[in-house]
Amino acid sequence: MPQPIKGFSKLSKEAKIEWLSDQFFDSPESAIALLKQYWHSDAKIQKLHDEFIENTLSNYYMPFGVAPNFKIDGELYTIPMAIEESSVVAAAAKSATYWLERGGFKTTIVATKKVGHVHFMYQGDAAKLKDFFEETKEALLQDTEELTANMRARGGGILSLKLIDKTAELANYWQIEALFDTCDSMGANFINSCLEQFSKTFQNAIAQDQRFSHSEKEIQVVMCILSNYTPECIVRSEVSCKVEELNGDAGISPEEFAEKFQRAVKIAEIEPYRATTHNKGIMNGIDAVIIATGNDFRAVEAACHTYAGKNGRYSSLSHCEVKDGIFRFWIEVPLALGTVGGLTSLHPMVKFSMDLLQKPNASKLMSIVASSGLAQNFAALRALTTTGIQKGHMKMHLLNILNQLEATEAEKESIVNYFKDKIVSHSAAVNKFCELRGIKSPSEIKKGH
Ligand code: MEV
Repeated sequence: MPQPIKGFSKLSKEAKIEWLSDQFFDSPESAIALLKQYWHSDAKIQKLHDEFIENTLSNYYMPFGVAPNFKIDGELYTIPMAIEESSVVAAAAKSATYWLERGGFKTTIVATKKVGHVHFMYQGDAAKLKDFFEETKEALLQDTEELTANMRARGGGILSLKLIDKTAELANYWQIEALFDTCDSMGANFINSCLEQFSKTFQNAIAQDQRFSHSEKEIQVVMCILSNYTPECIVRSEVSCKVEELNGDAGISPEEFAEKFQRAVKIAEIEPYRATTHNKGIMNGIDAVIIATGNDFRAVEAACHTYAGKNGRYSSLSHCEVKDGIFRFWIEVPLALGTVGGLTSLHPMVKFSMDLLQKPNASKLMSIVASSGLAQNFAALRALTTTGIQKGHMKMHLLNILNQLEATEAEKESIVNYFKDKIVSHSAAVNKFCELRGIKSPSEIKKGH
């Protein structure tokens, strides 16, 4: 029975591994060996990774791949992707090539504003608070001048401050809402520091103001925090071509393909069950680039899903129109990204990704990420509305099945070759493997046959 431990974070890495292996593993030696096997051979690089988080024991590998041939706003990109799902990179690459021949992806940065709030409780006269806020705005800005100096020098800073009355939804609840331009940084620390300063200045100022009664002065600041929902930090990416230029797969005409495709998007627009999976496919393309470029994929996920529900019902992030013989397919997503600060200058693979993308600024990265999401969605819908998703997906998954069976390289080659013109299923792959080995079932291998 595992025992609780005090001061775990203060133990050395070796001691942590030892404790953990003893407590939870039947064979502590194997657990220790596995964790150490994943350490980087360069101690300096390992230390860098150790220090990203607390209690680091080892590294967790994810495949890092690329999808070439992305033409975005006339420039050609090879997009880095870190993801474990077999078919994602292949799908992105396939879409990229498809649209390369049809004009590529065209993007628009709709806005790049970030937002944060001081959430506070005030029990008193609303009009008085509103007047006071307008009078105090200048001081709020002044007191953050030191914090914002660098950002202002780069062309960013605080864009606006607003008092919001939320008392109709929650008794006594108010917000100071601030909009920020954080240039090429994601800006979370910058925003949170400014918000905390607003809170201090605001509380001090109200405490000294004779217009407020003793109880009114006692505003309670609940929290000061940026919002990961960034409906004013939006990018749009679009592909379009003449309907006749769409090549319908699986023997269907371009017109039929356009119609089926558009209908699939419409279903995701009105049906949350489908929208969730549809958007999950989009996030396959988005998250993979977000991770490869050292950005915060949880923040992006949270923002995108809130945005998908902005009209009161969870809906598709992408849209399609077929009009006057033109097929248009586009996505609009909130992407609060950074290309400076955070992991971007620390993680060697992130630096590599940024170099590969020709050192994009945050707006350019927004365009690249949104296009990757759209490409992924196009590939999924194209497969779903024609051949079905499993054909391509299982082909990519075949190697995972064979690796689970511990097939040799020669067996893998032979089986992959066998399935070139056949539908892959788990049982078909297992059967073929058994046939090749001359066994009845994979369990025979374990029994030592
Ligand atoms: C699988 O990871 C993603 C898909 O399910 C997306 C979709 O259904 O649109 C293929």
